Amino acid sequence: MDVVDLKISEIEKLTGAENKYWICGHVVGEFLYKQIVEISAKTVLEFGTSVGYSALWMAKALKPIGGRLLTVESHKERGDLAAKHFEEAGVMDVISLVRGHAPEVLMQKDVFKDTMFDMAFFDATKYEHLSYFDFVYPRLKKGGVLVVDNVISHGDGNMMRKFLDLVAQHPGIASEIIDIGSGILIGRKQ
Ligand SMILES: C[S@@+](CC[C@H](N)C(=O)[O-])C[C@H]1O[C@@H](n2cnc3c(N)ncnc32)[C@H](O)[C@@H]1O
Repeated sequence: MDVVDLKISEIEKLTGAENKYWICGHVVGEFLYKQIVEISAKTVLEFGTSVGYSALWMAKALKPIGGRLLTVESHKERGDLAAKHFEEAGVMDVISLVRGHAPEVLMQKDVFKDTMFDMAFFDATKYEHLSYFDFVYPRLKKGGVLVVDNVISHGDGNMMRKFLDLVAQHPGIASEIIDIGSGILIGRKQ
């Protein structure tokens, strides 16, 4: 087991059965890892770092190919814990942790510059998915992948429903919902 795997299992124990940091869980983490490997993603964006669990799964796939993950978190203590986990796992060269409220971060041109992403993972507040999508869609490469967590567990919420309808009807995205974890949406840019 390498140091990233060890940190992943440590966070699983730390977060406990009550999932106090709302991590996506092992099955979804592994899914993110496999997606990156499958499409050879080099540039990934995440909204909602929490303590860095999903980010570590993605870093595990990105590190050997010199890829980069940009991940956004607004909560002070969870962000501090994530930074500590990234340092201990030796992935500071892979992950840029952006501290702040995502809608404000999106307006900071120096954070994103002209970066085009191979993959984006939405796992922050469900109310902001529509604005994340508006931001990400033009910056997602053709063939790039959008992954969204909790689409079954939160599928009845008004904003999640609006978002899911938008993606389902969008001519530029082919999407499906997969029943793992709390339900994930995967969309591929055409
Ligand atoms: C479900 S948790 C993320 C779990 C993480 N992706 C994982 O699987 O390990 C959601 C996180 O998003 C953060 N968050 C929610 N709204 C946010 C926003 N507008 N900007 C930045 N972070 C936000 C919360 O503070 C929380 O830590």
